[in-house]
Amino acid sequence: MNKLILIGGLFLCFGSLVSSTKLVCYHTNWSQNRPGNGKFMPSNIDPHLCTHLIYSFADINEVNELVSTDRNDEQLYKSFNGLKQRNPNLKTLLAVGGWVMGSLRFASMVSSPANRSTFIQSSIEFLRKHDFDGLDLDWEYPAARGSPPEDKQRFTMLCKELLEGYEAEGKASGRPRLMVTAAVPAGKDIIDAGYEIAEIAKYLDFINVMTYDLHGIPEKVTRHHSPLYNGSQDTGDKVYLNTDFAMRYWRDKGTPVEKLNMGFAAYGRTCQLSTESSGVGAPMSGPAAAGAFTREAGFWSYYEICGFLKGASAHRIEDQKVPYAVKQNEWVGYDDKTSYETKAQYLKDNGFGGAFVWALDLDDFNGQFCGEGPYPLISYLRTLVAPDNFCATKADGLYAKPDAPGSFYNCANGVTWVQHCPSTLVFRESCKCCV
Ligand SMILES: *[C@@H]1O[C@H](CO)[C@@H](O)[C@H](O)[C@H]1NC(C)=O
Ligand SMILES: *[C@@H]1O[C@H](CO)[C@@H](O)[C@H](O)[C@H]1NC(C)=O
Ligand SMILES: *[C@@H]1O[C@H](CO)[C@@H](O)[C@H](O)[C@H]1NC(C)=O
Repeated sequence: MNKLILIGGLFLCFGSLVSSTKLVCYHTNWSQNRPGNGKFMPSNIDPHLCTHLIYSFADINEVNELVSTDRNDEQLYKSFNGLKQRNPNLKTLLAVGGWVMGSLRFASMVSSPANRSTFIQSSIEFLRKHDFDGLDLDWEYPAARGSPPEDKQRFTMLCKELLEGYEAEGKASGRPRLMVTAAVPAGKDIIDAGYEIAEIAKYLDFINVMTYDLHGIPEKVTRHHSPLYNGSQDTGDKVYLNTDFAMRYWRDKGTPVEKLNMGFAAYGRTCQLSTESSGVGAPMSGPAAAGAFTREAGFWSYYEICGFLKGASAHRIEDQKVPYAVKQNEWVGYDDKTSYETKAQYLKDNGFGGAFVWALDLDDFNGQFCGEGPYPLISYLRTLVAPDNFCATKADGLYAKPDAPGSFYNCANGVTWVQHCPSTLVFRESCKCCV
């Protein structure tokens, strides 16, 4: 789409309306416990970075109600949802579940219509009370690891009844309907066991496919945890453990592409090499030492990886489109701007609805570690995939586009257009022109 505008005496007729891809970012309540510069609070979130924010995690109590996990959560919900005052287009959701909570509470909650109804009604009250715009279901995982196989159908019922409950409440209250979304696995076996894909896709507003943590320590050899494609060393069922397979699987089994969000990790998975060899598939003995801030063996945030990269040798896995780095006997498979760019291009080529990031607190949120400015990964991803809602809160006019000096925003009635200066010229804020 083109638009003709006059600046600096030049007619420019190239520009594009920015599409509305989603960028969904998870916040973790435990990142507040990290020491020093790793400590992360809702006040560290830039309200213009993402289109949706999700607070992790809430819990389900013994009587099937949605509740917070921590005494100070409710205080933090306030500053989290307060971010919407600075960006009225921002949407916030509360995630319930996570790997710590596991499956039992969910299984009991979905096991009868009465239990589900209690949960749904309590969630409406809780979300409205704290000013969330929706609920993200993070059940890890329905019908997995010896839990009842009928949880697969019950999860579908939960999604359906949540949507019905939220629609009814929206009509009655005259407020925008609460959203219902889910974070779902990328592993084929877990998907097959727990999800009636085409059914749940009807009821969910979007689905976040967790395309990370796909390989790890039990494999005893180095593998990237979030490859875009399968690698030459993947054999047997391992060929399914990659982003491309998972996204296609969720799509081909019946999810409309625009509802599918692809996962982007802002962290790496580490291991300790046990021989001289250090490529993909090298023998390893276990996780590398915990990071100084995240303090979890086998896991480094992007900002911890930045430090590690100094003096390390970095490589790209050509067929899988992701990097790894080695120093002495430590190995990390991670994501960087280049792999984000490749994955974002894949996402756009396939028409997927958006990206989501795990998690805000793992990027170099203050820009203190990597020397690449605040949120180097996520802000880059935003320029690649996400809607520029830049003009939503701006008066009509022209504005500089900080990530692209040769381009500028043209705001008209709250709609965002990105336009480009003639080649070799750059946009100047002072004259609102290309010079
Ligand atoms: C954050 O959530 C987890 C559950 O996922 C909970 O165990 C923990 O107590 C919460 N709060 C903090 C401060 O870590
Ligand atoms: C429903 O929830 C209660 C706990 O409030 C639990 O004891 C029960 O097993 C659940 N399932 C059914 C079918 O009642
Ligand atoms: C594995 O990769 C090959 C080559 O890139 C591709 O043709 C094949 O479809 C992939 N298999 C799966 C299961 O993703």
